[in-house]
Amino acid sequence: MLTVHKTPAISLTNTSTRDIEADVLILPVFENDPLEDETDLDSASGGEIAAALARREVTGKLYEIFFAPLRGWKSARVLLIGVGPRAEFTPDGLRRAAAAAGLAARDRGLTRIGLILRSGTGVTPEQAAQTLAEGAVLSNFAAASYKTSDTRRVWLTAVQLHVGSSSAAVEAALERGRVLGECTNLARALSNEPSNTLTPRVFADRALALAKDAGLSVEVIDEKRIAELKMGLLLGVARGSAEPPRLVILRHEPKKALKGPILGLVGKGITFDTGGISIKPADNMDKMKDDMSGGAAVLCAMAAISRLQAPVRCIGIIPLTENMPGGSAVKPGDVLTSAEGKTVEVLNTDAEGRLILGDAVWYARQLGATHLVDVATLTGACVVALGRSASGLFGTPDGWRDQVRQASERAGDRSWPMPLFDDYFDLFKSEIADFANTGGRAGGAITGALFIKQFAGGLPWVHLDIAGTAWAEDAKAYQPKGPTGVAVRTLAELALDAEAWGKL
Ligand code: BES
Ligand code: MN
Ligand code: ZN
Repeated sequence: MLTVHKTPAISLTNTSTRDIEADVLILPVFENDPLEDETDLDSASGGEIAAALARREVTGKLYEIFFAPLRGWKSARVLLIGVGPRAEFTPDGLRRAAAAAGLAARDRGLTRIGLILRSGTGVTPEQAAQTLAEGAVLSNFAAASYKTSDTRRVWLTAVQLHVGSSSAAVEAALERGRVLGECTNLARALSNEPSNTLTPRVFADRALALAKDAGLSVEVIDEKRIAELKMGLLLGVARGSAEPPRLVILRHEPKKALKGPILGLVGKGITFDTGGISIKPADNMDKMKDDMSGGAAVLCAMAAISRLQAPVRCIGIIPLTENMPGGSAVKPGDVLTSAEGKTVEVLNTDAEGRLILGDAVWYARQLGATHLVDVATLTGACVVALGRSASGLFGTPDGWRDQVRQASERAGDRSWPMPLFDDYFDLFKSEIADFANTGGRAGGAITGALFIKQFAGGLPWVHLDIAGTAWAEDAKAYQPKGPTGVAVRTLAELALDAEAWGKL
């Protein structure tokens, strides 16, 4: 397998832009922006920039790209990247611009970049250091890992950030961005991995290695212990597969932790979803290798949380299994008993995510979690409702849901609040068990969330449905096709900001 991502060396620089030594200096350009604060840039380009502005080749339109050679400066060339109107500029805009510019540099074989925060943007040096570092690291990802003739892989090696300050706070922000970018890429690499190389056991082994690296304590529970814990929902889904299930438990216990709150993060880890006996159609079934993206997000967020020493205790739980239609598979009409004791009639074996999450969310409570967030590629209905640019955000109470929403905004993972109408739970009525595992097509994303809510025991709980956002179907300027690592930074930002919600 080829390397799919590399984290470049990232440093702050205070020298004048003309003295930054790089293959390319990267400068954001706003709409209607004469670039007056960048003195001598145009003359170093031999007038190329003024000419391009005049003929409107450079307009500042989002992700527009223009290269010009520089003479007399330490960098050989400049890349002007459009970032849209100045009034609409945000830290996330800077993150995306850095990612788009990094990808453009790599495309041209340029490996050392300088990223410049323009003056007068309203983005602080801290915000800029974090988001520029994140964007640069995110651009250093290339998913095609099993090609045997991929000869031209260029990685960024050195990134210099010029943000107008190099205080300790700005250094810390850079480090945050570097770690968050790297952990996002680790999750993307996991989601990208096919199901024959990333089985539940292999995922658990990766979790062991990554946790050790990040200083997390970790435990892997095998099928025997899962049976002792009576996790009938997880075992029920696993029955159709030749691969045994696993349950990964990660713990972050900082010395200086807030008293009280324990954040419980739970991620769906279906390493392949065939649908089981309620089998999926052949078209696009290959996409279901990424049905463990929620689990990857929890694992990699926990690594970031530990590396950045978030001031709150956290528990990560990842139930791992395939959903296969083997001879012992759970069949429609079968009744499973959850670890908590609730019985579930499985009307559709393709609604497996909520089953394994039911047992895992219950277990997070058993381990002492006070605040819950689950992340799952749960429903096609969520993709229909919100499209592919926003994750579905469900939860209660509203204050807790809003905290997750804010974390996702800071992270550049767009999410959108969805309702939890309790009367929709009537749709899960079963003749034989406490409830069924599907409520029909109507409101499918909401009912999926309501199923998981049954296992949250009334704790503050949020469910992020990432079915539409875990995989980018189309290439964007700032993100190639493929796994996105969505929710890694959201969960980490939430833990880093525990002061704000620990009292909720
Ligand atoms: N993993 C799928 C959800 C999914 C669908 C993710 C499309 C990404 C893209 C999930 O396990 C599933 O199959 N959900 C069913 C639920 C239904 C049977 C109630 C669905 O969405 O059709
Ligand atoms: Mn399914
Ligand atoms: Zn699934």
